[in-house]
Amino acid sequence: MSQITDHLTLIRPDDWHVHFRDGPMLDAVVPHTARQFGRAVVMPNLTPPVTHMAAARAYRDRILAAVPKGVIFDPLMTCYLTDDVNGDDLAAGFAQGVFAAAKLYPANATTNSAFGVRDLRNIHGALECMQAAGMPLLIHGEVTNPEVDIYDREAVYIETVLEPMVRDFPELRIVLEHITTRQGVDFVRDRHGAAPGRIGATITAHHLMINRSDMFRGGIRPHLYCLPIAKREAHRQALRKAAISGAGPFFLGTDSAPHGIAAKQSACGCAGVFSAPLAIQAYAQVFHEEDALHRLEEFASRNGPAFYGLAENTDTITLKRCSPHKLEPIPVGNPGPGQEMILPFLGEQGVSWCLE
Ligand code: NCD
Ligand code: ZN
Repeated sequence: MSQITDHLTLIRPDDWHVHFRDGPMLDAVVPHTARQFGRAVVMPNLTPPVTHMAAARAYRDRILAAVPKGVIFDPLMTCYLTDDVNGDDLAAGFAQGVFAAAKLYPANATTNSAFGVRDLRNIHGALECMQAAGMPLLIHGEVTNPEVDIYDREAVYIETVLEPMVRDFPELRIVLEHITTRQGVDFVRDRHGAAPGRIGATITAHHLMINRSDMFRGGIRPHLYCLPIAKREAHRQALRKAAISGAGPFFLGTDSAPHGIAAKQSACGCAGVFSAPLAIQAYAQVFHEEDALHRLEEFASRNGPAFYGLAENTDTITLKRCSPHKLEPIPVGNPGPGQEMILPFLGEQGVSWCLE
């Protein structure tokens, strides 16, 4: 990595957690991720979800077809775990390189998770197979019990589900996705200390930038609503510290999750922040604010491949300081009346770092 005052060149980063959807939405969003990241771990929560190798292969081909000509981008596919997942198939998919990991959505925890796992006991066999194969388990770590306050769901998950899971599966490799709490940071850091390379966590740009009050600043802001929901300022500060520490278990995962404006600005708006277009720029802004640009490469380009046992990308990107400018909403599908649009995170105000 080299940094000359207002330029920053780093190994091309990867996005270890992204939602691409399918059809015209996929075509609209993939170029934004492919332009900045070398690889991305693609979430499988389509309808129907990606639960087997043939579906993952076909989905990967559709993603590659949406990558702009001349851009090299490698989508890493994940398998959506259901109660009746077959552990041997899963491990075979991993061994064949079709699946980079499997994703655990507790049933009904978030968007398109209705087919998720209802009872962890149903997937014990599969977790054993994954543990034996060294296949990472990616977790949406929130309890779904409606009696648990939405702001406590991650912390309660860690205490009641994750702690027992890491005891029951001492060798299982786990990524706690999109952590939003001090408890998430502590859990991952402590476990990493005991057994490096076993537990990791992704951190989104939006959780580094907004707290729960920002969702209601001057009025309700549906485009900042996502799951896990943004927490108190103290938690945001803990996330920032973890990200800029450069420590091994923390790496970049945008959780970019596009929904059309109509689906967001609704009486019952969807959860998800579409952050792909300004993703690495937003992280750069955070690291700059924290005087930690020299740590961005570890977080964005090195810790993820190290965790997944992959090589770092061989090319670089260069970011430079710029005056923020507005990014227009992005159209989906064919032009015409009622055309769907998606609003990029930070599009209104822009960011002070640009991709060269
Ligand atoms: C994601 C989506 O829309 O698919 N939404 C979100 O708020 N992050 C699902 C998820 O990752 O929880
Ligand atoms: Zn997600």
